[in-house]
Amino acid sequence: MARSSVERVAKEAGFLVVDDPTQTGVEGPDVIVIDLQRHKAIEGVQGARASYPEALIVGHISVPDQDLWIEAERNGCDLVLNKGSLAIQLRRRLKNVEKVRRNRYPLMDESDIAGRLGLVKRFNDTPVGPLALYQVNGGLFCLEDVCPHAGAILSEGPVEGSVVTCPLHGSQFDICDGSRLRGPADLPVCRYDIIVEAGRVFLVWA
Ligand code: FES
Repeated sequence: MARSSVERVAKEAGFLVVDDPTQTGVEGPDVIVIDLQRHKAIEGVQGARASYPEALIVGHISVPDQDLWIEAERNGCDLVLNKGSLAIQLRRRLKNVEKVRRNRYPLMDESDIAGRLGLVKRFNDTPVGPLALYQVNGGLFCLEDVCPHAGAILSEGPVEGSVVTCPLHGSQFDICDGSRLRGPADLPVCRYDIIVEAGRVFLVWA
């Protein structure tokens, strides 16, 4: 019943429905729908999120189960829907897939961060340009790795506490929000959101 609803709505919205993208040559599915009450469903959500970080992952349940709902979201579901309203909600969401889904880009495994403070890693080539991932004050923060003053590689400068200093002319920025603390730069540096799901660190942006 759920599958026929999904197929009907997907067809209306112009999506192709496949059981296993790896068997059909489909690359990077746009939407993945998972029955959260099936055996090992949460592992399925984690696997889908790890394999297809940019897909919209929709889980559905047939009886109210708040714990399962929260667990599914924690493990990578973008949306959890009640099976009874699946068709209606899915139809509505598919019209706005781009609005619902935030772009995701896998950066690294969470296990590789343990014990690293200050600059964790530099990423020269991401969809939004060069980035640097920092761990300060117990949190992960991601900044554009280009100084807004004259384009120096910001992460090559020293980090003290939550402050990074540009190696070229000494501008300082707060790693936690990208704000400018000291010139000569007169602009902040762009900060990006990070999420950690299923043991992986993702960059997310609208
Ligand atoms: S390039 Fe960073 S302060 Fe000039």
